[in-house]
Amino acid sequence: MAECLIIPENGSREEIYKVIVPQIESVISCERNVVANLANVAAILKEAFGFFWVGFYMADSENELILAPFQGPLACTRIRKGKGVCGTSFATGETVLVEDVDNFPGHIACSSLSKSEIVVPIIKEGRVVGVIDVDSNLLNDFSQVDKIYLEKISLLISDII
Ligand code: SME
Repeated sequence: MAECLIIPENGSREEIYKVIVPQIESVISCERNVVANLANVAAILKEAFGFFWVGFYMADSENELILAPFQGPLACTRIRKGKGVCGTSFATGETVLVEDVDNFPGHIACSSLSKSEIVVPIIKEGRVVGVIDVDSNLLNDFSQVDKIYLEKISLLISDII
């Protein structure tokens, strides 16, 4: 397994994703414990991009997500299906990209410093089993590039769940 992360200096966000996605694949293919793998994926994304908050919520039942490994400030532990950005992605199975969290009805504010957010579902055998949640302290910080690469990372994770 790669013992240290290789991140291009001064790379664009897309260049960095292109380098870290294979490293994520390598790290999680060597270990079958899901919590350990989610913890390392959160750490890799935090180290690569310095996101304000990055981590996982996993399905605890048909109707509720529970906080899972993350990097960043204290977060709410449970999110009902359909609530907030994470609960919307859980309910619809679609990626939700929010340019300004203040304009998203029902956004759950774990920190007033969070300004924009992207949530990507993790789908296993047709069911949403969790979500990747990334928060930024900058407005409009996420684009189709984040959507494309976080969805690739979500597919890698669904393979090891
Ligand atoms: N803002 C999220 C809640 C989770 S925290 O951002 C870590 C939401 O609205 O679902």
